[in-house]
Amino acid sequence: MKRHDSNPNFDLRHATPINFPFCPFKRFESALKNYRKVLSSKPQNARALHGVAQVLDKLAEQKRSNVLLQEAIDAYMLLLGLENIPEAIFLSSAERAINRLRFKGLHMKAALVHKKLIDRFDDVVEYRNDLGINYLMVNRLSDAEKVFLETLDRWPDDPVARSHYGLVLKLSGNTSESIIHLQRGLAPDHPATRDARLYFHLGDALSRNGKTEEAKKVHKAGVEKGLFRSEYQRSLYNIDHLIARPWWTLKQTTYEEFFKMLERNWKVIRDEGLSAMKLKGLYQDEAENLRDVGDWKQFQLFARGNKYADNCKKTPVTCKLIGDFSPARGCKRGQSKFSVMEGGTHVWPHCGPTNCRLRAHLGLVVPPGPIIRVADDTRKWVEGKVFVFDDSFEHEVWHNGTALRLVLIVDVWHPGLSPAEKATLSPI
Ligand code: LMR
Ligand code: MN
Repeated sequence: MKRHDSNPNFDLRHATPINFPFCPFKRFESALKNYRKVLSSKPQNARALHGVAQVLDKLAEQKRSNVLLQEAIDAYMLLLGLENIPEAIFLSSAERAINRLRFKGLHMKAALVHKKLIDRFDDVVEYRNDLGINYLMVNRLSDAEKVFLETLDRWPDDPVARSHYGLVLKLSGNTSESIIHLQRGLAPDHPATRDARLYFHLGDALSRNGKTEEAKKVHKAGVEKGLFRSEYQRSLYNIDHLIARPWWTLKQTTYEEFFKMLERNWKVIRDEGLSAMKLKGLYQDEAENLRDVGDWKQFQLFARGNKYADNCKKTPVTCKLIGDFSPARGCKRGQSKFSVMEGGTHVWPHCGPTNCRLRAHLGLVVPPGPIIRVADDTRKWVEGKVFVFDDSFEHEVWHNGTALRLVLIVDVWHPGLSPAEKATLSPI
């Protein structure tokens, strides 16, 4: 059976909320009653069950009720389990069930609905891709890989399956092999492959394989397609109106007073950072796969707006200074941490996830050797001094010396965010 391409509502990528005309609660309740009446004599009536699911869904939204949402999901699932449901009802219920299950973070349950779609529409490649992408959303890399490989067996030229298979390889650490698949998948410029993550990882894979010029071309293409804010600023979670510059003066941040206060206290902070290093296990290896070579560890104090209370007991003054400053303490899209780097370390060029924060570094132990490049501008740390950069811009670190380097990293909200934005942005 063919997919109804003419009707965008049948496409899972165009998930739309159901659009009831304005309907006061009473009308919903009476509709529900009527549907249930039908179901009491014909429990398998697809239209009535669909009606129940939709009304519960709408009520759940209006009343912000998790209980009703779960009942709506259960009704959709019951419906999708029936034999011979009319196609339009099947498709719109599947779409909405997936949307609601994802909203609740239940991606593995959503996978069951994707599988029902695949069972019913065996020859629609998009439903297979949607299942693979669903697995990717929750980092189930081997499940995703299996789906894309099976799909490519039947549709070797499908750009969505091809590029996402490349993405799975890249995320699994198979950087060099990922390149050919990502390139092949992105070449036809299919609308469903105009996705910042695909361009981000292809550029990264090329750059890590020494193909700097090719990486630049990919970044440029990403900018032209509106996926990146600029060739150097390739963060994925952005607010449009924020001023973008790689390096900030303390004054430009509007937080100069706070940074000056950190500078005045740098020796206490340094001593706390150093004494925490004597305790085993507090500093942990950088876990984002950003290291090319060397040794780079971090000791977390705050992240996503949360305080690491146990860690802070080891460095109380530092945590108090940061904790008293709300643009740092409340920065749900950032972290505060000590960062120690051994000589001989290289950190790959990379971009932070969001343009909503600025990153301050306070130099604590700075031997000769370490340097940091942000966009086109390379600088050095100075003991007792703060510098601030926007880590959504590409940056890269080399420590060509031999002694360890210690800095305190404090992320602060971008000063251009409104209080409402800060209150509602999801944590990163
Ligand atoms: C980074 O934020 O990527 C690095 O600058 C961190 C560090 O320790 O230098
Ligand atoms: Mn970084």
